[in-house]
Amino acid sequence: MKYAPINVALFIENRIRFAKKLKPKSLAVFNSNDILPTSADGSMAFIQNSDFFYLSGIDQEESVLIIFPDAQEECNREMLFLKETSPHISIWEGHKYTKEEATATSGIRSVFWLKDFFVILNTLICEAENVYLNTNEHLRAIVEVQTRDARFVEFCKKRYPLHNYCRSAPIMHELRPIKSKNEVELIQKACNITEKGFRRLLGFVKPGIMEYEIEAELIHEFVRNRSRGFAYGPIIACGANACILHYNDNNKECKAGEVILLDVAAEYGNYASDLTRCLPISGKFTTRQKDVYNAVLRVMRAAVKMLVVGNNIANYHNEVGKLMEIELIGLGLLNINDVEKQKPGAPLYKKYFMHGTSHFLGLDVHDVGNKYRLFEEGMVFTCEPGIYIPEENLGIRLEDDILITNNGPVNLMANIPIEADDIEKMMAN
Ligand code: GLY
Ligand code: MN
Repeated sequence: MKYAPINVALFIENRIRFAKKLKPKSLAVFNSNDILPTSADGSMAFIQNSDFFYLSGIDQEESVLIIFPDAQEECNREMLFLKETSPHISIWEGHKYTKEEATATSGIRSVFWLKDFFVILNTLICEAENVYLNTNEHLRAIVEVQTRDARFVEFCKKRYPLHNYCRSAPIMHELRPIKSKNEVELIQKACNITEKGFRRLLGFVKPGIMEYEIEAELIHEFVRNRSRGFAYGPIIACGANACILHYNDNNKECKAGEVILLDVAAEYGNYASDLTRCLPISGKFTTRQKDVYNAVLRVMRAAVKMLVVGNNIANYHNEVGKLMEIELIGLGLLNINDVEKQKPGAPLYKKYFMHGTSHFLGLDVHDVGNKYRLFEEGMVFTCEPGIYIPEENLGIRLEDDILITNNGPVNLMANIPIEADDIEKMMAN
């Protein structure tokens, strides 16, 4: 791992919060992610399962966590099972956790090798009545490969058919949206690394440069600051490419007079940040570009003010939609008479602003959380309105990451330049 050690209290507290949500006599099992194959003997870079990481801090493949708060023996209440290293593994793959390191990282004292897992599970599971298993219940998850967790669900239900099975996912979706101080610090660190990458671009972007050259600048800056890299596929989109919401070809030339949309951010310690900024390739926005830019910025600033305790996503999106409507009329993109006649379920602004304004942010960039839950202190949301006008070769989106507190929203990206005039000045220097 490139990141500095994370305070073990984070994982200890997360397990306590999780254990409190279990029914009596419950045993929960969480699996790490797999290392996914590519072709031949190739594999993808390992990325830990977010729920497993949240509860253990262990960032290694072939790992299992048991949480069994009512186990008769104290040493069985939290257990970790890890891949045992060997001379062969250490020569070919490098270091794996020792048991002592796993305890220091996770705060779990009972650490075993994975080969003992099924024997130990077999002795423990008879003490339990409920077995909590983990599934990916993100509303937009489309998963075609069987995860380790999914394989374990199949195994467990077949081997122990008479236990009462429960879902861990609803508990994780309840806990993970509320970020603790340690988590906010990790997200802030990711935001700060993103800021360094963005500032590097201000003197770099110019006519003739390729989108992938910008990607290369960013990855260089992120990795040298202990990030694994991008928190999600970077969107580096010049001109009309910016109107493709998840554009990631990043292979076109940046042309004079165009605006480039950069939806690019670093991860740190497995926590995501999520930034969008737009730069004029020639260093100055045209009047029209600046008008659209400032319209988006006004909507963003007003939207951030609505990220407050007690509000909810549906109301928030509705209010942001109304603000966007006014801006689009002002820009001559919508006609006020048409807007007055629009059907409630099909607002006209969706033609130019077709995505949501905010999503949860955390270990996952589109983090888990219930969209009907009222906003609470500790939630972190993105705020990312946009206006997309392909016929004008222009797409503008601006995005910051916002922490909700009892004293109002705190912008974790407040130091990243956003005023159009500031951007122009910094590009000129
Ligand atoms: N940063 C990309 C997205 O939020 O979808
Ligand atoms: Mn986003």
